[in-house]
Amino acid sequence: MKRVAVFTSGGDAPGMNACIRAVVRGAVYHGVEVFGIRRGYNGMINGDIFPMTSHSVSNIVQRGGTILKSARSKEFMTPEGRKKAYDQLMSHGIEGLIAIGGNGTFTGALKFFEEYHIPTVGAPGTIDNDLYGTDYTIGYDTAVNTALEAIDKIRDTADSHDRVFFIEVMGRDSGYIAIQSGIAGGAELVMVPEVLTPIPEVVETLKQGWSRSKSSSIIIVAEGDVEGNAVVLAEQIREQVGVDIDMRVTTLGHIQRGGVPTAYDRILASRLGLGALEGLMEGQKNVMAGIVNNELIYTPFIDTIKLPKPINEDLLRMVRILSV
Ligand code: F6P
Repeated sequence: MKRVAVFTSGGDAPGMNACIRAVVRGAVYHGVEVFGIRRGYNGMINGDIFPMTSHSVSNIVQRGGTILKSARSKEFMTPEGRKKAYDQLMSHGIEGLIAIGGNGTFTGALKFFEEYHIPTVGAPGTIDNDLYGTDYTIGYDTAVNTALEAIDKIRDTADSHDRVFFIEVMGRDSGYIAIQSGIAGGAELVMVPEVLTPIPEVVETLKQGWSRSKSSSIIIVAEGDVEGNAVVLAEQIREQVGVDIDMRVTTLGHIQRGGVPTAYDRILASRLGLGALEGLMEGQKNVMAGIVNNELIYTPFIDTIKLPKPINEDLLRMVRILSV
């Protein structure tokens, strides 16, 4: 393989830049020409494709966001869009792709291969940590630490005012950020999409806390919780609790997607970027590079897309025990 291209797609994640850097510097090391594609699949369709050198990725290992920008492309979901993308890649002589993103990104890459036989190797870039085939995804550690910093601050004011706080963290289909930040932040309860926590149980937990003279409580809610987001939940709980409680809701939102990547994320992203590039050079296709038990492995896209990555339910049990 003589010429490859790298792009970032879907929701951005801190550490994506370190991953791009590893792909580009790895390509330079191996004597492979490397191109960047801006704005994910949209840039592929529009021909926003440019050569990258070692210098293109100087001074980015520590930066959040993605220098290649990102998008969730609707056009690439159409056969016409994919045809345009293929024509653009051919006109630039691109033989293989490195896709940094999540499930939507890999679904697109697989469809593209079925039609045009362009091989792609993926690197898992999403704060949600919801990809089968890797213990951790790029950006997850930073997002957990960002959420934790906010939770610690909210705890100060919750305590001063004897309040109950519902803090919503990201995770459309996944409770990973909620569980980790909840444990580290000493939350009373963590609510996640994977496990139903019935509202009466939340009410009971709060009441038990008050009976033990707890004056403030923090409940972490993943945005995709089955019972509703934090605003909906807080209202339902207010109705059911039967006493007038001082309650506030904070949605942390997109601050979790930005910021300086942690050392962990930079190292993970570097390993996965180089691993994805070297996999592609060795003939891997339609697989995601991942780190499982500290070993680099490649998992077929079809598995990363279809197989669930279960949360550790024992950690939810631990939250309850430790908040007594
Ligand atoms: O997939 C990562 C993620 O941050 C989810 O946790 C969240 O639901 C979603 O992206 C938000 O996407 P957008 O930035 O498009 O609103």
